[in-house]
Amino acid sequence: MKQGLLYTNGNWTRSNSRRTFISLNPATAKPFARLQAGNKNDVDKAVQAAKKALPSWKKTPAPKRAEILFEISRLLKKNKEKLAKIEVLEMGKVYKEAAGDVQEAVDIFEYMAGEGRRLFGHTTPSELKNKFCLTFRIPLGIVGLITPWNFPIAIPAWKLAPALICGNTCVFKPSSDTPWNAIELIKIMEQAGLPKGVVNLITGSAEEVGNHIVKHPQIRGLSFTGSVETGKYITANAGLKKVGLELGGKNAIIVMEDADLNLALDGIIWGAFGTTGQRCTACSRVIVHKKIKKELEERLVKKTEKLRLGSGLKKTTDVGPLINQKAVEKSEYYVNVGKKQRARMLTGGYKVDMQGFFFKPTVFTNVKSSMRIAKEEIFGPIVSLIPIKNINEAIKVCNSVAYGLSSAIYTNNIKNAMIAIEEIDTGLVYVNSSTIGAEVHLPFGGTKDTGHGREAGIEGIHEFSETKVAYIDYSNKLQKAQGID
Ligand code: UN1
Repeated sequence: MKQGLLYTNGNWTRSNSRRTFISLNPATAKPFARLQAGNKNDVDKAVQAAKKALPSWKKTPAPKRAEILFEISRLLKKNKEKLAKIEVLEMGKVYKEAAGDVQEAVDIFEYMAGEGRRLFGHTTPSELKNKFCLTFRIPLGIVGLITPWNFPIAIPAWKLAPALICGNTCVFKPSSDTPWNAIELIKIMEQAGLPKGVVNLITGSAEEVGNHIVKHPQIRGLSFTGSVETGKYITANAGLKKVGLELGGKNAIIVMEDADLNLALDGIIWGAFGTTGQRCTACSRVIVHKKIKKELEERLVKKTEKLRLGSGLKKTTDVGPLINQKAVEKSEYYVNVGKKQRARMLTGGYKVDMQGFFFKPTVFTNVKSSMRIAKEEIFGPIVSLIPIKNINEAIKVCNSVAYGLSSAIYTNNIKNAMIAIEEIDTGLVYVNSSTIGAEVHLPFGGTKDTGHGREAGIEGIHEFSETKVAYIDYSNKLQKAQGID
């Protein structure tokens, strides 16, 4: 079995706790790697290393920092196949999706490296003569990055790449379900020549490692992707850190009566069952016009039943396993909740009788927006059909949940599309495309309980930096702003 270590100040070490834990291969439920169960002391060590590395990293010209990011991007690309295979084994993703995850990391490192020659501030006229005003970007300092397992390379990369190009140093805690993926990413950063202490990796539990990062007074910024519950805990305990939170979704695809149904069906299958429904952006509600509801139901069930479950390494597999036993139980729980609240289950709804955490893709219909399966994030392969009569009702249903991450509308009517773009209250809106598949040069994040802040795109730079202003007065006299003599 692979043996993982912690990475602080450029050294691979065992945890101070002398304890370890195991990550599983979800397709076999067998151990994949043994990792260090980090503790408070390890986090302190990581923070000290990040503190020591900060002055020199911050002073390194951004285009020079960029050279290392370009190299990380190149090495990720070169090792794409190997990294994707590891991801399939530790996380259960279907191979081509895992390769997409690695590609997303390749892209964000490349994009953020490019920002090293921009990191724009602005200049603006002063209200006074012989005075010049400009802004530029400064890093936050030491930042804490806490990441989930569903995109075990891309999401860490979304956070690390902008944090690094802005000149921050990092303490990074990956999910305990996919720590080996994080170790591989660090090895690549090390190989690319990242100076020691700039990124430090501590594996371990949320209680010991995550909690201490959240509360650590020397950490100035925090970026977290995960549950609403943890997001609330972070908000209450992070003190005065600048915090970015991405806390999930209850994303809907609206299918209007004029939609291209073939296109919509492909989008629903991909949105609902891609990554086994384990995406913050997964489609878990289909808001369908009643005129086409019956046809959509029939065709969706047929397509769903054709999906082949299995190991992500097999070319024939469409849907991989859930991440762990707890995730299976959660899906089973919501199937029961759906039935109890009298939604009609059309297909699926059970754990498949094979080794690993496989759950049959599930479709419910006649779902009302007041039902729990239409409101709560399931993070599994379960989708609910909600019938509506017109676009206004569709928007109302779409916006009726606490979350606000992603949404989609299938329609050939420009008016419906524009109403959706304007009225849906999510951070991302797709027209004639699924709820998933964000691109790295555009901002990603949501509204309402999904949290705040944006990752990727130029907004990702803003998350990990602050604006500093310089006023340069060359008038040789005391000039006072606001017209004071
Ligand atoms: C997530 O599920 O946390 O747009 C992120 C997408 C992916 C990212 C999902 N690129 O679905």
